[in-house]
Amino acid sequence: MADNFDAIVIGGGPGGYNAAIRLGQLGLTSACIDKRGSFGGTCLNIGCIPSKALLYASERFHEAKEDFAKLGIKTKVELDLPAMMAQKTKVVGELTKGVEFLLKKTKSEAIVGEARITAPGKVEVKAADGKIRNLTCKHIIIATGSDVAPLPGVTIDEKQIVSSTGALALTSVPRKLLVVGAGVIGLELGSVWKRLGAEVTVVEFLDRVTPGIDGEVGKAFQRILTKQGFTFQLSTKVTGAEKKGGGGLKVTVEPAAGGDKSVIDCDVMLVAIGRIAYTANLGLLEVGVAMDKRGRIVTDAHYKTNVAGIYAVGDCREGPMLAHKAEDEAVACAELIAGKAGHVNYDVIPSVVYTFPEVATVGKSEEELKAAGVHYKVGKFPFTANARAKIIMATDGLVKILADAKTDKILGCAIIGPEAGNLIAEVVLAMEFGASSEDIARTCHSHPTLTEAVRQAAMGVEGWTMQM
Ligand code: FAD
Ligand code: NAI
Repeated sequence: MADNFDAIVIGGGPGGYNAAIRLGQLGLTSACIDKRGSFGGTCLNIGCIPSKALLYASERFHEAKEDFAKLGIKTKVELDLPAMMAQKTKVVGELTKGVEFLLKKTKSEAIVGEARITAPGKVEVKAADGKIRNLTCKHIIIATGSDVAPLPGVTIDEKQIVSSTGALALTSVPRKLLVVGAGVIGLELGSVWKRLGAEVTVVEFLDRVTPGIDGEVGKAFQRILTKQGFTFQLSTKVTGAEKKGGGGLKVTVEPAAGGDKSVIDCDVMLVAIGRIAYTANLGLLEVGVAMDKRGRIVTDAHYKTNVAGIYAVGDCREGPMLAHKAEDEAVACAELIAGKAGHVNYDVIPSVVYTFPEVATVGKSEEELKAAGVHYKVGKFPFTANARAKIIMATDGLVKILADAKTDKILGCAIIGPEAGNLIAEVVLAMEFGASSEDIARTCHSHPTLTEAVRQAAMGVEGWTMQM
């Protein structure tokens, strides 16, 4: 085993493993270090993959219970939670093994242990048994990801007061689930447990759900979730949680602006108020790597920190905390290290909430365009007027496309509806190519598909949507 590499990657998540694999493809030697004991990072182990596995399974459960009869299919549906969890664990296991296989294939050494930078080009790795290995390299890529943002005054035990990690592994369906934070995690994992039978109340500090998403789509989203049975307490904050004898929780809330306190009883509370960059025990202060006020590693556009030979990608630096953003940065960083022209187009990074219906966005929201004084045109199309949406009984939602008033260049898109996460890919590609709304409007789309709603919204920009 060599102890010297072209590059050492710290972190085995989408930022880390993609960097190591790309380095290997480009002929550079690397080691990829993760302390978790299983590669794939937050995404594969406790994030994207297990959450989507439970979202998929719970959606099928709900469909079988509520919708099959309407299609003329009679069933007696029963929940087998241990089997559902086992299927989630199986998918996670297969995918994490897949990452190890890819690292091996590209000749990157996968090392399990906690890494610390002792100097530029020097990394110490401490294995679980305490054994130390000292490695050297030309380049260090930090991809240590993020961790749960704590809620002051509340201690997470991952049983009754859980973060997303505990919420992905509950052993029974809570009767009452209180979700703190109406962001992506709160609404996705709230949906899982709602479908499986929990009463779900969401407490949100701001006066809207999913801040940052197009306002019109955000309002529609809240309306649809309320119709599904979610209860929202907006402009409200949680100030404490007390365990009751007998297993429940007494959660104290008050208006965000201050005022009278009230108490909400629940069985489980999910804290989902954001994530923070994770850089603990990495030796950054000692080596002098600059960080911003939010604890994120500061880099230039080429992912270089202020210390020569040290780079950072993914959740531990600025930008959306998304697996595909981490992956794209990893590839670009590896390519730049190899002397190629790696680049990420931050204007076209899609974002998807995998609830039902899904919510997908890319580019600018209408509010952002207004604030920037950009003249734009809007095209919209509701799923109620789409044939495929009617067939699959999923007509809630709409597609909204924003284009420059003068050039017709697509500036943004927001979709709330069935398969929104897949539908947005067409608009992302169009935007990457600098397309106009007319380009999508004049492209032939198969019938009857959900993609026709995207085309109709694009046609709507010039006012020739065909709607009954
Ligand atoms: P991470 O995946 O966090 O990986 C960092 C790794 O570094 C970790 O495994 C950690 O153990 C390791 N590490 C840290 N410090 C050290 C050290 N000193 N030594 C060795 N190893 C170390 N994003 C999406 O795009 N789509 C989704 O559907 C989605 N769903 C999510 C659901 C949940 C519940 C959560 C929590 C997140 C979700 N995300 C999703 C976000 C996504 O998981 C992250 O954006 C992504 O994992 C970031 O990748 P990363 O490589 O930067 O960091
Ligand atoms: P988030 O930033 O999406 O939402 C947090 C919400 O909590 C916000 O609405 C915020 O206003 C609210 N909040 C903050 N402090 C609060 C308080 N004290 N009381 C009540 N509400 C409060 O963060 P979330 O949901 O924790 O997710 C973290 C990150 O993980 C996301 O930013 C996203 O990047 C990533 N993620 C992505 C997914 C996807 O792509 N589908 C799925 C899950 C997570």
